[in-house]
Amino acid sequence: MRKVLLFLDPGIDDSLALMYTLMHPEYEVVGIVAGYGNVPKQQAVENAAYLLDLAGIKDIPIIAGAIGPLTGELVPYYPLIHGEEGLGPIKPPPYVYADQEVFDIDKARELIEQHGNELSIVNLGRLTDLAMLYILYGPEFVNQVKAIYLMGGAFLVPGNVTPVAEANFFADPIAADLVLEKGESITIFPLNVTNKAILTPEVVEYLTQINKSPYAFLFEPIFDFYFAAYQKLIPGIKGAPIHDLLVVSALINPEIVKTLKRRARVDQTGEFTKGESIADFRPKPKEEPAKKLDTIAMEIDYPAFIEDVVHIFSQSKVEE
Ligand code: BDR
Ligand code: CA
Repeated sequence: MRKVLLFLDPGIDDSLALMYTLMHPEYEVVGIVAGYGNVPKQQAVENAAYLLDLAGIKDIPIIAGAIGPLTGELVPYYPLIHGEEGLGPIKPPPYVYADQEVFDIDKARELIEQHGNELSIVNLGRLTDLAMLYILYGPEFVNQVKAIYLMGGAFLVPGNVTPVAEANFFADPIAADLVLEKGESITIFPLNVTNKAILTPEVVEYLTQINKSPYAFLFEPIFDFYFAAYQKLIPGIKGAPIHDLLVVSALINPEIVKTLKRRARVDQTGEFTKGESIADFRPKPKEEPAKKLDTIAMEIDYPAFIEDVVHIFSQSKVEE
């Protein structure tokens, strides 16, 4: 079993990643930290609660994350891509949240203490909450986990919110750089690979038909909304990139991506380069201490990714 503590900002691709993880027989989700990002923090918490409730799951603690980045700046949300409530046209009922206990960030410390190096951290949203763990409890404490997997950055490819920056790194570049510098055993899934992790309407139709999860009814409406938004952003695109889903698929199936080991940093303040992810890809990169090296996914085996996603949703562990 892979025990994971998830950091999410659901959001459509985060939601699909969460559904996949909950349905996967090899994953055990020990907690969900839901914070601002695609949607405001409160909405992220409610969406996580709604998705757990749909599957009848009551024993996974939801932890409320931050309302904004370490700079204290206000940041935009993305209703045009993810929908007003973050689930496309779906309106999660508010009463679900009222029924569920929501913990503060200290619960994340408790979970790390409890599970130690059996636990992996999977960060699919802004890096603020994970950075807060380093600030509150120190690198030695957080780095007792087995590994950290995160969606963020764009190496040698364009960004998605500025010409050079990806959304998770751009929204809180201080947090992103802090995590990369203080964290150990980090694997990064940047736009290089997640842009290629697309679901097409045909695959989503098939996934809906074969779906044995309590989430089957959500697939088409949330995908259609998200795909329509991407078609406006990138005319001619054949499907929508489900960035965060690739992370949880490749964590269990590492052969889905090809990786390089480099020290990754994030530009924190540049007028035109804020949030840019930087690593040395010269033929002879500068030597770095082994502990500073991150594993960066650079290429994806797309058919293997699709095969895995279809496989997991067709034989889910929670039956309707
Ligand atoms: C990342 O930003 C968010 O919008 C997505 O959920 C994903 O985690 C892609 O840049
Ligand atoms: Ca996300």
